[in-house]
This record gives sequence, structure tokens and C-alpha cells, in this order.
Amino acid sequence: MVNAKDIPSGEKVLVTSALPYANGNIHLGHLSGAYLPADIYVRYKRLKGDDILYICGSDEHGVPITITADKEKVTPKEIIDRYHNANKNAFEKFGMSFDIYSRTSLPIHHETAQQFFKSFHDQGLLVEKKSMQFYDEKVNMFLPDRYVEGTCPRCGNEEARSDECEKCGSLYDPSELKNPKSKISGETPILKETSHWFFPLGKYQERLVKYVDEMNEKFGWKDNVLQYCKSWFNDGLKDRAVTRDLDWGVKVPLDGVDNKVLYVWFEAVLGYISATKELSLQRGEPDMWKSYWQSADTKYIAFIGKDNVVFHTIIFPAMLMAWNDANADKFVLPQNVPANEFLNFEGKKFSKSRGWGIDVDEFLNLFPADLLRYTLAANLPENKDTDFFWKEFQGRTNGELADILGNFINRTFTFAHKHFEGKVPERGKLEKIDLDMIEYLKTQPQKIADLLERYKIKDAVFEMMNLARAGNKYFNDSEPWVSSKKNKEQCATTINICLNTIYTLAEVFEPVIPFSSVKIFKMLNISPTTWEKCGNENMQAGHKLNEPEILFTKIEDKMIEEQINKLPQNDETPKEVIEEITIDDFKRVKLRVAKIIAAENVKKSDKLLKLQIDLGTEKRQLVAGIAKSYSLEELIGKKILIVANLKAAKLFGVESQGMILAVDTPEEGKVKIIEIDESINLGSTAK
Ligand code: 2FM
Ligand code: ZN
Repeated sequence: MVNAKDIPSGEKVLVTSALPYANGNIHLGHLSGAYLPADIYVRYKRLKGDDILYICGSDEHGVPITITADKEKVTPKEIIDRYHNANKNAFEKFGMSFDIYSRTSLPIHHETAQQFFKSFHDQGLLVEKKSMQFYDEKVNMFLPDRYVEGTCPRCGNEEARSDECEKCGSLYDPSELKNPKSKISGETPILKETSHWFFPLGKYQERLVKYVDEMNEKFGWKDNVLQYCKSWFNDGLKDRAVTRDLDWGVKVPLDGVDNKVLYVWFEAVLGYISATKELSLQRGEPDMWKSYWQSADTKYIAFIGKDNVVFHTIIFPAMLMAWNDANADKFVLPQNVPANEFLNFEGKKFSKSRGWGIDVDEFLNLFPADLLRYTLAANLPENKDTDFFWKEFQGRTNGELADILGNFINRTFTFAHKHFEGKVPERGKLEKIDLDMIEYLKTQPQKIADLLERYKIKDAVFEMMNLARAGNKYFNDSEPWVSSKKNKEQCATTINICLNTIYTLAEVFEPVIPFSSVKIFKMLNISPTTWEKCGNENMQAGHKLNEPEILFTKIEDKMIEEQINKLPQNDETPKEVIEEITIDDFKRVKLRVAKIIAAENVKKSDKLLKLQIDLGTEKRQLVAGIAKSYSLEELIGKKILIVANLKAAKLFGVESQGMILAVDTPEEGKVKIIEIDESINLGSTAK
């Protein structure tokens, strides 16, 4: 397990966040997926004194942009300029600390992408293949994958794309798609011949499997990311077309080839590299980018949302491998890809067309960025989809930021000004209560750092607020309002330790609420130092404090109700689509009572346990995702319910012959097994 103390400060870190399309405004879901977690990580690493570069920019090619432009009867350039600027500004207002927010329409990007294509072409890697592509005769264009919808040949999902099904994760040949329809004209498209260059992804499968395994072993990849990779590896990686019939994009750099551009995903991932080149030029050190991208000791972390996993864990690494095989200057591959799941809005997917959600810019005109940053960070979709609820936003602002953090700071400052002339008072004799707080103050930042190093941002934020909780409790238990009258020395000790706690709070909270952190440091009349300095004695006796200011204003019910009322009241999207089944469907599921007789961990998984169970008439082995909810010992002897006729499957290489029934708990990632009364016989049927 990665521990912060084992990582010396000063390490070279390259961080990227997925390049959002310049085809619409970013929303809160984007922020929670790939941007806020990365920004928190980057800000923490900067405080640690690491040598860090944080790269992002707009993804400005791809068909959606040309379609929006056509619809609005403007040029694609107008669209990308509009949204590039809007998103750049929104990110800035939200406090994103990119070193550069570049764009893929820049010549430096086109050149970089073309160099990669040429290198692959020169190596003879790219195979030119004639293929049948969907063509919409009504609008006279070849239809890109996402503009064809049909039925998935593998799972029957009726909203599958032309070569990829989001529901079951399969990739397939467009000719296999059933009932295709053009999403542009609604017509049934024809399959028409065209020729494209294909990248032989399959050739890299073995190396990619090894790469993912090695990185996971060393750096602990997230389970969701590993599962996605596994499913692609299981399907077998196929050749992928890297060109398209379009004129908006990076031109294919081959003589005699017109009207073809590089596939947007092929070049977009290279946008991270070209943006770093652009930053180097801006800084007047044209080769600076090489010392990050082409240095073996760089730690490269790619933050993305779950829909981008294959591109960052398989396609981009394969492209870098292919480059590295033929060129002297070798690129680093992502060391970790901490992809998040999605954030929903008030129980449903964000939807611009249905008016469901709120733009970042609009949000930040109503409320300060730190309030949004805190609520989103406390509820990041790290392991499963989560929701933004207005009521929760109000609750976290009022009940946590204002009542816990703000209140602790405010009451400490009030005391310091009232009883100690606005100066840090000198400590007297330390009692147990003081020593305990000092110890906590020393260890808590370490705990937070460990979580951040493991990309467990949400848990880290919880521990940050716990530090403020502990400060409040220490203040209450020390009763300075009593000691200020009876024992001034003891009161001074309390306020001194509280001020040191505030210093540490300002430092550890900086990555999450940077604007407020600046204010707190100003109130303390001191500059931030480094993460390592968090803890005990930063506020020296006699140091003059500034006047306190209100950090977090509570949000009134009225303001929240106004926002909720703005949402479309007659939105017809059901909150959760529950498919009906018949009683006969249900009867097909055989539920039986069993007893757990042995339990052990499944290698390389922090979620799965291997269980041996007794069904009375037979014994079986099951794999269950309950490692985070139970210790091995407490499981033994439990009587449980299992699905006895579930087809056997292998999880992490371990066979599972059935499934345990368990229910979700309010605590994310934890479940509770359905337990059966001791008096019930093994093998009994549940109905
Ligand atoms: O999903 C998206 O918004 C893509 N534009 C992300 C691209 S990430 C990288 F490849 F640039
Ligand atoms: Zn499918």
C-alpha cells in the first residue's frame, strides 16, 4: 500500500485531466469526474514541494463540433472559440490550478499528432483496409460511430453505437450492429466502402496486460478501472481505425490523401503532450516538456471519467509503446488512471436538452466556488455513481463548513482578540487533553496525505473535516470560557493549540477550499509553508493576528428552494427504470439458505473474499464483494441466503458458484449480508 511518508517530496509528477470537448459547457458532473479530484491531488502535491505539471485543454475536433456548427450555421472555429473560452473561464472561477489550459486546434498539436501517425506509418504498423462504413445518403456523409444507433449484437441493448455498446462494454464490427439508424437524419444508413488506416491494437495485448498488471501491483489501480481493462482483454483487442472521412480535424499527413483526418481519439490523447510543448514555449524553455514526458522517473497520472478508460489504459499506452519501439526519445506511460464514475443531478442524469442540471458559471454566480468544491469533493463518485442534491449542498455548507470549520476558527479568534490582545498566547503546562490534541494534530495530516496519495480524495476530505471536528471538541472540553476567569495560563494553552490547529486546517484544506485557505492564512497573518510543516508549532507566542472575517455564510432555505423550483417540474425521465418481471421469472431464481464455513482474501483484490459455504447437501465456493464490510472471522458460521442457480463465473481467476444476497448500507462501499435465523435448516428455499 502506498504511504505518503515513503514518498520523498520533490518527485516529478505529470498530471492530466481529460480534455473536454469544446462543444458545450462543462457541468458539475465533469467537475466531479476528472477535474476537481485532479486539482485536489495537484494542489496537495504542490504543497508537498513536488515538481508537478498539471495539463489540460479543449478537445476541439470530432464530429459533434461540426454538427453543432452546421445546426447553428456557423463555422466549427466559432463553436470551439466560444466553448474553449467559456470553459476556460468557468474552470478558472472554480479555482482549477492548471499550469496550462491549451487547445487541440493549435498547429503544435496538429504537428505532434501527425508525427505520431507518421512514425507508425513509417514503421509499417498501420494497415490500410477497405471497409464498409455507415453512410447517410440524405446528408451525404459517412456516419461516425456515435451517429449510428442500433441493437447490440451481444446483449440486445437497443441504444448501442455503431461499433461499441456502453451497456455491456463490447466492441464489434459495425456490420454486426442490428437495425442501424442514422442519428442525423433518422434514415437507415447504407454500408459504403471507404479506406482507412488501422492501428494493430491486438499486437500489443500481451504487453498491455503486463503493463496494467505491473502498475496495479506497484501502485494499486482502482477496481472499476481494472474491471474495464479486463473486459476488453477478455474480448481480445482488435485493430482500430485511426482515420475518418471528414474535413474538420488533423489532416492525415500522407501525400495524395484528401478529406481524411485522424480519428479524434487518436489525436486527443496526444493533446496532453502537445499542450505541454505549448507550455514550454510559453515559458521560454522549448525543451522543458521532454524532462517530464521523456524522463523515466516521471510519475504520470491521468485523471478521467469512466467513459474514457479504454482510451487511457489501452489505446494511449499502446500508442506510446509503438512510438517508444521505434524512437530514441521514449515517453512515460500512465502510472495510474484513477477514473471516477458519474455524478448525477437530483437523482437523474445531467441533460442540457431537458434543462436538468446547472452550468458551472451560473452556479458560481450564485455561490462561492469553495462551497461547491467542498460538497462535490465530499461526495465524489469514486466507487459508484453519486448525486448532487441541492439540500445536501445546503447541509454541507451550513452544517459542516459553517458550523464546524467556520465556527471553530471564529470562536478561537474571538477568544484570542478578547483575552490575549489579538496575539498568539504563550503555552503553559500541558495537560493530557492538550497532549492528545497535539498528537492528533501531528498524525492527522499524515493520514490525509496517505489517502490523497492513494487517490482516495473523498475519504481524505472526510478526515480534513474530522480535524476541525476534533478542534471543536478540544475547545469545548477545555472550556476556555471557564479558564479565562480561573486559570489564564490554561486558557492561553488552549488558545495557542487551537491557533496551531487552525494553521494546520488552512494548510490541509487548501487543496479543497483554496479561496478560504487564503483568507484563513490572512487572518492568521502568516504565509503557508509546506505540507510537512503541518502540525504543532507554527503559530509562535506573541505573533500578532489579524481581525477575523466570516468565512462561510449559511445558505437559507429560500435560496435552495428557488433552485429546486427552477428544475423542470414535469420532467418525465423516471428516477430509476425498474424493469417488470413475472412471477415465473422470479421463480427461476433459486434462493437457498447456506452457512459460511471458511473465508479468505482474494489475491490482488481489496473487495473480494473467497468463501466456502455449506448448503446442507453440498459444499460450494463463492466469491463475494464484501471484504470492505466484514472481517474474515466474523463471517464464519453466519447463515446466509444465496442464489444457488447462478451460472458459475471466474472473478480475479477464482471460481464462484453462486451469489450471496446482501443489501447496500448508507456507507459507501459497505454492504450488509442478509442473515437467516439460526433455527432454519441449511438448503431451505426462500420464496
Ligand atoms: O470525453 C471527452 O470529453 C473527451 N473529449 C476526452 C478526451 S481525453 C483525451 F484524450 F484528450
Ligand atoms: Zn451490449
